[in-house]
Amino acid sequence: MRRPIIAGNWKMYKTLSESLELVENLKLSCSSVSDRDIVVCPPFMALAVVAQAIKKSVLKLGAQNLHWEKEGAFTGEVSAKMLADVGCAFVIIGHSERRQYFGETDDTVNKRTKAALAAGLTPIVCVGETLSEREANRAFEVIERQMKNGLANLSVEESQKIVIAYEPVWAIGTGKTASPEQAEEVHRFIREKFSALYGASAAAGLRILYGGSVKPDNVKSLMAQGDIDGALVGGASLKADDFAKIVKY
Ligand code: PGA
Repeated sequence: MRRPIIAGNWKMYKTLSESLELVENLKLSCSSVSDRDIVVCPPFMALAVVAQAIKKSVLKLGAQNLHWEKEGAFTGEVSAKMLADVGCAFVIIGHSERRQYFGETDDTVNKRTKAALAAGLTPIVCVGETLSEREANRAFEVIERQMKNGLANLSVEESQKIVIAYEPVWAIGTGKTASPEQAEEVHRFIREKFSALYGASAAAGLRILYGGSVKPDNVKSLMAQGDIDGALVGGASLKADDFAKIVKY
C-alpha cells in the first residue's frame, strides 16, 4: 500500500567528513532494506558529496529547505532546480524551527511547496502544534490552518506527490514523544482534512510521517498505527546505529 519513509533531518550538524562517515555506515547497515524509502537530509554544504557517496545505494537524498524563486539576487538562498540538480529527491518544508526562528509562514510554505513540485522534488511539508496550542485544545485548528494555507491551490496531481510530516513542536528534541495513540489521532485528522481538500483517493495514498523524539525503542509502536506511514527523525538520525535501527523498525 503506502510505501513507508524513514527520513533523517540532520539539521545544522555534520561536517563533510562526518557526513560521509555517517552515510558510509548507513549504506552498509541498510543495504538489505528495499521495502521503504530511506532519506538522509544533510545540510546544504554536504549535499553534493553525499549525493556521490549514496549513488547505487538504497539511500535517497533530501534537503532541509529551499527558496521559491527560480533564480535571482537572493543572497544565501538555494533554488529547487539546484537541489534537483545536485541529486535531491525530497525537501523538507516548513519545519517548526524555520517557522519559529526564521519567519516561515503558511504562505511561504505554500510558495516553497509549489516550487519543489515544479522541479520534480517531493516536498515533506511539516505541520504541528506548540505545547500552549495543545494545552488550549487548539491542536486540530492549528493543523487545519497550516494544511489549508500551506497546501493551497495544488492540482490533484500535485497533491498526490506531497508528503506531510506531523511534528508536535513540544516533542521535537525534548525526548517527549507523542504516544502512538496521540499521534494516530492527529494523523487520522490530517488524512480526513486532506481528503476534504484533495479527494479520497489522494488522501488514501498520502504518506504522513510522524516526527518528534523518534528513537529505536519507540518507532515500532508508532509505525504500528494505521495512519502513520513513516518517521522524520532528528537527533537519532545523527548516529548510524540508531538510525539504522529506526529504519528497520
Ligand atoms: P527530533 O527532531 O527527532 O530530534 O525530536 C525531529 C525533527 O525536528 O524533525
